[in-house]
Amino acid sequence: MNQDEMKKAVAEAALERIESGWIVGVGTGSTANYFIDALAGIKGKIDGAVASSEASAERLRGHGIEVLDLNSAGPLPIYVDGADEATRHLHLTKGGGGALTREKIVAAASKTFVCVVDETKVVDYLGAFPLPIEVIPMARSHVARALSKLGGNPELREGFKTDNGNVILDVHNLRIMNPVELESELDHIAGVVTNGLFARRSADVMLVGSASGVEEMTA
Ligand code: A5P
Repeated sequence: MNQDEMKKAVAEAALERIESGWIVGVGTGSTANYFIDALAGIKGKIDGAVASSEASAERLRGHGIEVLDLNSAGPLPIYVDGADEATRHLHLTKGGGGALTREKIVAAASKTFVCVVDETKVVDYLGAFPLPIEVIPMARSHVARALSKLGGNPELREGFKTDNGNVILDVHNLRIMNPVELESELDHIAGVVTNGLFARRSADVMLVGSASGVEEMTA
């Protein structure tokens, strides 16, 4: 199985957790796209979806799945999304696709967060994948200096704007020994909208795809 086949397999495994009448929280990225495509097959069974990005909303609508506003649809029973890195404690780095803020909001508003990854994403410590941070544009330099003081090497994601009109700093070389603490610390830098650590609200269940099938992990 190649990486794409593993992503598809975990996305299809997540589908088994969806119950009739549910409004489903939907993530962003290539694994989430496989989930959206699978969800289309049971669209008559669900009451719609809440999307974590404009891209996912468009894909859902393309399949004829109603996209609802979180303010009226939440709280949600389930949120299904991928990750860029994940530990066995179900702490995650997310935001490779730049949708981290809405992803964190929908995850926070959901009872169960099912994270779907292929085995290449599972690591002992987070940090090899540059940590995405959404920043208010006028604070870009201030936040970059604060991140450098923490030992990171921030790099502006060139030519990219989030769905919220902000910029992303991808932080290289951060040693993430305590993701829960670092997540809070980063959120306290003025100008940071969201950081890509999902450690305080980590995943509840992780489905990991490998050549031998789909393994379920819980914290
Ligand atoms: C999107 O902003 C991210 O958080 C994605 O969940 C993450 O980048 C995983 O993407 P893939 O499923 O494409 O690997």
